[in-house]
Amino acid sequence: MLLDNRTALVTGAGSGVGAASALRFAQEGARVVCADIRADAAKETVRRIERAGGSGAAIACDVSREEDVVAAVAAAVERFGRLDIVFNNAGIPTPRLGAQLEDHTTEDFQRLVGVNFAGVFHGCKHAVLQFKRQGDGGVVLNTGSVAGLVAWGGSVYGATKGAVHQLTRAVAIEGAPFGIRANAIGPAGMPLTNFMPAGGLDTSDADALEQTVQRVAASHPLGRAITAEDCAEAAVFLVSDRAANLTGVVLPVDGGYVAR
Ligand SMILES: NC(=O)c1ccc[n+]([C@@H]2O[C@H](COP(=O)([O-])OP(=O)(O)OC[C@H]3O[C@@H](n4cnc5c(N)ncnc54)[C@H](O)[C@@H]3O)[C@@H](O)[C@H]2O)c1
Repeated sequence: MLLDNRTALVTGAGSGVGAASALRFAQEGARVVCADIRADAAKETVRRIERAGGSGAAIACDVSREEDVVAAVAAAVERFGRLDIVFNNAGIPTPRLGAQLEDHTTEDFQRLVGVNFAGVFHGCKHAVLQFKRQGDGGVVLNTGSVAGLVAWGGSVYGATKGAVHQLTRAVAIEGAPFGIRANAIGPAGMPLTNFMPAGGLDTSDADALEQTVQRVAASHPLGRAITAEDCAEAAVFLVSDRAANLTGVVLPVDGGYVAR
């Protein structure tokens, strides 16, 4: 088991990449604190972990609020004694499908920055503080995006993800003397999580959804759309000791999209 005896905090654990990763971390032996703005969704992920024989705890947490992130870290330590891994994964999409830069309101901008960038800043900051208190290192993983590596549409969203990538590198360099590693995954489009519907994709029409999956798949050299499980596998690797000498990496999970 790759994560035996570790405690992990996963944000956005109620759905998609966060839920799939929380389940995989638990399968690998981690105790997983599932944080999500939707408390019921976080609880459902914990139920799935427990049904599979694992151990977890749910906490309501809006990552854009620093006090919520402080409380989530404290809850993990109180419940399981220490914290080893923080996966800052929660993120929100461009608010309206196809919105151009000039279509973003100030509120849209502030919300994207507040969740996608400030949320990851809060998670990195309080992970580092807790790891330094413990004194024996720790692992940060952040969810960036292909949209933070290439201009892809969703200008403000992509800029928040570019910021996440750079913050990841900074945490890696500052954390290295303390045994703290920091990496990011950069997923390409995942039409089957709740993310694209949250950004306005109509998923009620199964044929239209299938067409979207096919269109996304065709844009990847490997020819299939990325899944939450693809990201979870990359996440397990990066937070495990198999990646003990990897830090400051942004790993695209993109079927070769950015290599083209
Ligand atoms: N789906 C894609 O196409 C795609 C592509 C690249 C990157 N990503 C990134 O992957 C990450 C996960 O996306 P997903 O596809 O699993 O989406 P998802 O919508 O299925 O899951 C996101 C989860 O985050 C939670 N969340 C939203 N705002 C929050 C907040 N303020 N505080 C705490 N939790 C919050 C939601 O309730 C949800 O459970 C995000 O950071 C996203 O930007 C997604």
